[in-house]
Amino acid sequence: MPLMSDLSPHLTALTGDLLAAIRAEDTGRRIASLLGEYAKAHDDWRDYAFAEDEGYTRNLLELNDEYELLLLCWGSGQRSPVHNHEGQDCWMAVLDGPIEEVHFPFPKAPGPLDAGPVRTFARGEVAFIKDEIALHQVRAVDGRAAASLHLYAKPYGQCNCYCEVTGKVTRTPLTYHSVRGVLQAADA
Ligand code: SIN
Repeated sequence: MPLMSDLSPHLTALTGDLLAAIRAEDTGRRIASLLGEYAKAHDDWRDYAFAEDEGYTRNLLELNDEYELLLLCWGSGQRSPVHNHEGQDCWMAVLDGPIEEVHFPFPKAPGPLDAGPVRTFARGEVAFIKDEIALHQVRAVDGRAAASLHLYAKPYGQCNCYCEVTGKVTRTPLTYHSVRGVLQAADA
């Protein structure tokens, strides 16, 4: 587990509330409402936000045995690869948007992926995904940069990424661009 300094007060409160909700096996609705309320009301996440021209960044805010909380920063037009979630639950709350999410049904045969429904989320709105629902891709739209909070329960360190054109699956390690505001070496 990476060494982590203290978080800002609103994020500290959020991470504690999320842990309590997950330990109490509260419904996903409670987790979504904690994330959505934080996203509507607070801006301290900006202290941990780093953008990169090369692609979206994954900035770690919290990692424990139950969950991982990441701040993802999206430059204009940046997108994630189509990917799975390793059997875990994933919530995404938009901090600065809009952000688009595209579902892709699990491919039944090799070949190009079929894009499913596309939904657009504004600040404070929360999306939920798990492997039983679909693969997905997340992207910044409207020529704007964007930011989102992602909660993965439980945490995972790699996932399957899919080529949209060929359907080829690549096992991909998931790295952190920063950990609680501290930039990480490119190979960390
Ligand atoms: C990521 O975690 O890098 C991609 C975003 C997502 O799973 O929603």
